[in-house]
Amino acid sequence: MKIKDLKELLVHELKDLHSAERQLLKALPKMAAAATYPRLKQTFEDHLAETEEQVVRLEKLLASMDQKASGTHCAAMEGLIAEGTDMIDGEAPAFVKDAGLISCAQRVEHYEIAAYGCARAFARELGLEHVVKTLSASFDEELDADQSLTEIAEAAINPNAVPSNRP
Ligand SMILES: [Fe+2]
Ligand SMILES: [Fe+2]
Repeated sequence: MKIKDLKELLVHELKDLHSAERQLLKALPKMAAAATYPRLKQTFEDHLAETEEQVVRLEKLLASMDQKASGTHCAAMEGLIAEGTDMIDGEAPAFVKDAGLISCAQRVEHYEIAAYGCARAFARELGLEHVVKTLSASFDEELDADQSLTEIAEAAINPNAVPSNRP
């Protein structure tokens, strides 16, 4: 990999994010199917719809910079999804599995928050205001998804996942 300046690095980051989001498009329906708690299922489904839009945003951004979206594979997302798949395939009581799915999903959200945050900082430095604006929309959706998962976990999942024989 050869990158000569911040603009090329931004393009690389956008392609990497595109790969990450496309991998997530396939994983989120499986997360939704594996979740038991209805609000958690709904959160995964809602974020799937947002993810579809995020993919389109990245494609439009790359096209506006005369770049193709293909050519980069996000290895980090592959690993995060592999951990999610282990949790999906694992055996656990419903609330415990839901807590585990949330833990996997929040790792994904934090990765995306970091990636969008860095890409946006590069775009801001480069004076690419339309890129900053578009990336902010996706960044905010990732923050909201992360926050929703925290709320569901703390209010409804974790308290029900404690050992049943606890004194
Ligand atoms: Fe995303
Ligand atoms: Fe996300």
